[in-house]
Amino acid sequence: MEVIILPDEDRIGLVGADVVAEHILDNPSAVLGLATGSSPVRVYEELGRRVDSGQLTLSGCSAFLLDEYLGLPEGHPESYRQVIERDFVDRVDIDSSRVLALDGSATDVTAACADYEERIAAAGGVEVQVLGVGSNGHIAFNEPGTSLAARTQVKMLTERTRRDNARFFDDDVDAVPQHCLTQGIGTILEARHLVLIALGDGKAEAVQQLVEGPVSALWPVSALQLHPHVTVLLDEAAASRLELREYYLACAEHKLAWQGY
Ligand code: GLP
Repeated sequence: MEVIILPDEDRIGLVGADVVAEHILDNPSAVLGLATGSSPVRVYEELGRRVDSGQLTLSGCSAFLLDEYLGLPEGHPESYRQVIERDFVDRVDIDSSRVLALDGSATDVTAACADYEERIAAAGGVEVQVLGVGSNGHIAFNEPGTSLAARTQVKMLTERTRRDNARFFDDDVDAVPQHCLTQGIGTILEARHLVLIALGDGKAEAVQQLVEGPVSALWPVSALQLHPHVTVLLDEAAASRLELREYYLACAEHKLAWQGY
């Protein structure tokens, strides 16, 4: 796991875009894994700038979203399908029909989850997965107490996550769906490279658990310790509870010239 502490969101956007672009330049038909939420937005903006300036094209890429609310009507502005259209698809040159999302209005949700797993496998798996983290340590919508081996499934959201996400629903917690569909931790861990972005002191405890805590279902993000290739991009506030902060800074400063991300 490489922990990179950066001074501001602009630098995080640049480095995050470098990580993703490295994969796309290496394989123009790379399969991307996309997270919604505010944390990756600067990365998506920077990828958009590189596409606009002709340095990069995502025209051969496809992508899978991590999760979706269950029960929002199709086209709801806060459904993750719509959010990713605004935050990512509209900024780059990826073909929207090759960006796949879980179907939150499916009548047979179990079948929808199994189908999603099959589609990811048929695409050859995810090359680089962008991740955020919830303040309670959830990744995608895998809430505390989840199995660390779970596949794509239906989950119930915690009150804390619904409160955190109420800001997207006019601060009305009751408007936030109670259930969701989410790639399982086991699914996410199969992506070949994970890049997690965390910003602000509200994420400091989750980040400490991710990097230094015991692997535990109480902090689902800690399962990333079991993955061989993880890049963690943090601002100072999100890194503020790391016990080995100085060591991570020294590792970044003395990174060997040939080492990529
Ligand atoms: C949501 C999403 C997660 C996201 C998390 C953090 O609950 N399901 O995928 O990582 O929130 O969001 P943000 O980046 O806005 O803090």
